[in-house]
Order: sequence, then C-alpha cells, then structure tokens
Amino acid sequence: MKPMPKSKSTESAATPEKLPKILAFANQKGGAGKSTGAVHAADWFTQKGHSTILVDADGQQSSSGWLKDLGLPYKIISDPEVLFDELPLLAESYDIVVVDGPGNASEVTKAILIRSNLVLIPCRDSMIDLASTGKIMQFVRQAKEIRGGSPIAAVYLNAVKDNTILLREAREALQSGIIPLLNTTLPDRQCIKDAPGQGSTVFRMKGEAAKAAARAYTKILTEALKLFESES
Ligand SMILES: Nc1ncnc2c1ncn2[C@@H]1O[C@H](COP(=O)(O)OP(=O)(O)OP(=O)(O)O)[C@@H](O)[C@H]1O
Ligand SMILES: [Mg+2]
Repeated sequence: MKPMPKSKSTESAATPEKLPKILAFANQKGGAGKSTGAVHAADWFTQKGHSTILVDADGQQSSSGWLKDLGLPYKIISDPEVLFDELPLLAESYDIVVVDGPGNASEVTKAILIRSNLVLIPCRDSMIDLASTGKIMQFVRQAKEIRGGSPIAAVYLNAVKDNTILLREAREALQSGIIPLLNTTLPDRQCIKDAPGQGSTVFRMKGEAAKAAARAYTKILTEALKLFESES
C-alpha cells in the first residue's frame, strides 16, 4: 500500500525529533535581534510543551524582565565562569535552555559558544551589520575547532525590510561565509517591536500582523531545528 502523502502544512509545522539542549542567540553586534529572538524561542518551545528556561547572559537584562512579564522561567547569569558551569546543569533540569547573548565580543560570548549545541546569529540586512559578522563567525569557527564540530550554527536575516535589492546583496555577502544562512528571513514588523512593551510575544498577540510574524518565527525555528537535526 502506498504511504499517505504528508500534508504540506503538517510537514512545515512538525518539530524535528532531536532538539538542542542549549540554544543560544549570539552576535556581538548590538540591536541585531538576539533578545527578541531568544524570548520568542523560549515562548515557542514552552507552547510546544517543552520545559524551557531562558538564561539572560546580557548585562542589560532586557530579556529577563520580558520573561518575567510572560510568566516563564529565567535566570540571569553574566559571569562567564558561572555560565560555563551552570548551563549544563540547567540543561539537566529543563528540556531546553535558551541563552540570550550580550552585544559584545566577550568572554561571555565565548562561554556560550563552548556550551551551546545550536547557535543562531540574527543579523540585520544592512551593510554595516553584515560587515560586522566577521567577529562572531571567527568565534564560532574557533569554538567548532576546539569542540570538533560543535556548536552547529546558522545566521538568519532579521528585521528585513521589503527591499529585495539589499536582501539579495545580504544573501550574497553571507553565503560566502563558513556558517550557513537560513533561507527564511524575519521581516521588520511593528508588532515584533511592540511585543516587549506589552509583556507579550507575537505568539500571544492578537491580529493578523502578529499571526503573520508568529508564522515567520515558527518557520525560522523549524528550519534551524531541521538543520540541527541533519548536522548532528
Ligand atoms: N524583526 C523585527 N522587527 C521589528 N523590530 C525588531 C525586530 N527584531 C528586533 N527588533 C527591534 O530591534 C531592537 C533590537 O532588538 P533586540 O533587543 O532583540 O537586539 P539585541 O541583539 O538583543 O540587542 P543588544 O545587543 O543591545 O542586546 C528592539 O527594539 C527590537 O524590538
Ligand atoms: Mg539583547
């Protein structure tokens, strides 16, 4: 008997079997979208039924305040040695630890890369931001060398304007790098900007714009998890 073909929507919504225990959002460039990505990932995994904690490793503590509003577990750790020791312990107590990295190329970022299984690097599609990705790429490459391939990492373009010329240039600039660029991009949307002020995420907000942004986040996370599954 022929197997039933999977429906397209089920296929894209399916979460891969293998999940990263420690998922970090890292980029030494400020304002790239790390905290926004990390908080949305923490809410997404929680809503999928996985016990999730967010580690706010950024001295500015923006994501921990947001997590508090959402009523989700979080821990603030901005000491690199403590991060190194605590991340694996937290990974024993939760299904997934989501780490929000700082906006600088510090020992904290190095500790995160040494402990993470999957690193997502949000990058804005401006030439200034693209040009600055070299540093985090270098950090990831060095961590991979030390750890024999881990962490698996991917870049995604965040807050993409509806401007295809820049987007094409951005893709070309990143595609030559050693870290894969996700096909999915995250659009620049007011509802994403509004989410922290409302103590919410686009997964919880009402309206079509939030629903569309939620679909974009789901697509990014699903693509990243598929990459993780295939590479690990
Ligand atoms: N896709 C998006 N659409 C619209 N606004 C966005 C999007 N992603 C992030 N932003 C906004 O951009 C700003 C910077 O985002 P965020 O705080 O997540 O960056 P960050 O990388 O954590 O910065 P830092 O390095 O300072 O911690 C915030 O005001 C956020 O609301
Ligand atoms: Mg941040």
